[in-house]
Amino acid sequence: MLNFELYNPTNYVFGKGQIAKLAELVPQNTKILLAYGGGSIFKNGVYEQVKAALPNVDILEFGGIEPNPRYETLMKAVAIIREQNIGFILAVGGGSVIDGVKFISAAVKFDGNPMDILHKRLLIKDASQVIPFGTVLTLPATGSEMNSGAVVTINETQEKLSFGGSALFPKFSICDPTVIASLPKKQIQNGVVDAFTHVMEQYLTYQHDALLQDRIAESILQTLVEIGPDVVENPTDYKLASNYMWCATMALNGLIQKGVPTDWATHMIGHELTALYEIDHARTLAIIGPNLYRVMFDTKKEKLSQFGERVFGVQGTSVEEKAEKAIEKTVDFFHKMGMLTKLSENTAEYQSTADFIVTRFEERGWKALGEKQNITPEKVRAIVEMSY
Ligand code: NZQ
Ligand code: ZN
Repeated sequence: MLNFELYNPTNYVFGKGQIAKLAELVPQNTKILLAYGGGSIFKNGVYEQVKAALPNVDILEFGGIEPNPRYETLMKAVAIIREQNIGFILAVGGGSVIDGVKFISAAVKFDGNPMDILHKRLLIKDASQVIPFGTVLTLPATGSEMNSGAVVTINETQEKLSFGGSALFPKFSICDPTVIASLPKKQIQNGVVDAFTHVMEQYLTYQHDALLQDRIAESILQTLVEIGPDVVENPTDYKLASNYMWCATMALNGLIQKGVPTDWATHMIGHELTALYEIDHARTLAIIGPNLYRVMFDTKKEKLSQFGERVFGVQGTSVEEKAEKAIEKTVDFFHKMGMLTKLSENTAEYQSTADFIVTRFEERGWKALGEKQNITPEKVRAIVEMSY
């Protein structure tokens, strides 16, 4: 097992009715910015619950944070916080609102051009230089409620870039599974597939000695396979909703990545598809992931075989046979979760995608991705072309 440090200061407040605890969780005597997205919180009762929990708190509201949050929008909130002397931010929404708030938090006191946080992928570590924030999660998917990473899109240049750092963990996150009742089916499908792929990025590498990490990862995958299709149809079933929400958090709160190699190339390529075509994040992962496993088959086949046996119960006489079956089972699962796994099924203008992505990666110096740094630009091209 590799050496590791496990640091996660987020107070994770889980369960039915927990939004009522907000008053105990937010700091006293400071103005709060309540940040939200396109308005779903006004339709599903979450906004009322938040306001009811904070009757005597000085709250300013900032709405309009887009899915795939935009730098240009977030900078408007940065200006408001600077002007209004706001001391705490409450993010109420899905991964986009929470990620947006992480950027706002980091940008307010940033000494320099805040765009550098994105372009230079800065690590924000100094807690005195950020605006503290908490979250009320409304969409289980990204794990952003319990991690310190975020992804923000610059509209002007169509770049979707990630950043993070230990100062960007939420102070608290309220995760009430009943909020998923109002989610469109498509978003629940996305949430399950995003969480599934987060586990795969940290698990589906090569054989190593971190036995417990493998078993934890497999148990999250198995649970998602077990409940995924059902929770889409029955989002008010508390057993399904609560397990879905906890799986999504556990998939990317840092725990399963400790002591193991990780990949993340599916996400890096997927982010480009969102930046180019605005395809939902999870849907880009369902397009790229299986083809990345195919192109990187020699590197990943032992782990694919283990994954197939333990998660899907596949059988076979060779590692290769079980690994191939595992990929097919994964694609079947994605289809069951409503994903269209070809790029051409998601956008009509895909022909030059591989050229664009390879050029971009080369310009950024991303020439050796993956757990063995052997996903070269040629491999990226092969993965993207196979995904057409
Ligand atoms: O904006 P509103 O009106 O709130 O509507 C949202 C949005 O349209 C809606 N929604 C959210 N909760 C709802 C609801 N509608 C009804 N009822 C509810 N309870 O759902 C839509 C999608 O929301 P969004 O926040 O964009 O989805 P998600 O949580 O999947 O977040 C995606 C973003 O997170 C990034 C992605 O790249 C993408 O930008 N990621 C963040 C990560 C992280 N911070 O660790 C890791 C991930 O890999 C991912 O890259
Ligand atoms: Zn993701």
